[in-house]
Amino acid sequence: MGNWLTAFQGLVLICDIQKGSDVLIHAGASGVSVAATQLARLYGASKVFTTVSSEDKIQFVKSLRRGATHAINYRTHDFVEEIKRETEGKEISFPSDASLLPLVFKRLNIHGSLLSTRSVEYQAALVSRFKREVFDYFTAKEPGGVSLLQLKIWKVYPWQEVKAAHDAMEANKNQGKIILEIK
Ligand SMILES: NC(=O)c1ccc[n+]([C@@H]2O[C@H](COP(=O)([O-])OP(=O)(O)OC[C@H]3O[C@@H](n4cnc5c(N)ncnc54)[C@H](OP(=O)(O)O)[C@@H]3O)[C@@H](O)[C@H]2O)c1
Repeated sequence: MGNWLTAFQGLVLICDIQKGSDVLIHAGASGVSVAATQLARLYGASKVFTTVSSEDKIQFVKSLRRGATHAINYRTHDFVEEIKRETEGKEISFPSDASLLPLVFKRLNIHGSLLSTRSVEYQAALVSRFKREVFDYFTAKEPGGVSLLQLKIWKVYPWQEVKAAHDAMEANKNQGKIILEIK
């Protein structure tokens, strides 16, 4: 669940995502971003933009029950222009150089975070809040029988094939998590 806790911390604890927000999530098919996209929708985001490197990944991020509302192949499209058009230039700003002025005028924040070095108390509080607010959505089913939040496992490798697993990850092939099974 590390990817879910990482996404939860970023979106909910740090960014305090609000209903109606517009959100941009890069590397949309990655483990952390698959979780972040679904959480953004769960917490009421209006538009969830995500960038990916292929058409296959676009299909994948849109196939999630609570998937991205807008998926952009950054290799073939200018995602900045697409998002500007969709938000009428109001919601998301991209400083194009090192100037801090866009940050100041739009009252933007940049946060950095590393969960593994936080205190045990912080991590326990994070897990506890995640359990309280999110956990049931993994088992709750909608009328069609689909759970509200989906764990996406791309491939399970036996530990002896760890090199193949790393090769796939380095080639950016995975859509969701890669699992290494140790028996
Ligand atoms: N997974 C966890 O539990 C976890 C927890 C804490 C922190 N993190 C950190 O979060 C990051 C993502 O982890 P993950 O497990 O979600 O990764 P992942 O599933 O392996 O996906 C990474 C994706 O990032 C994109 N990417 C790769 N190189 C890039 C580059 N140079 N510039 C921009 N995008 C690039 C690729 O997507 P495209 O093909 O679409 O470009 C790639 O598929 C890592 O730095 C990891 O250390 C992960």
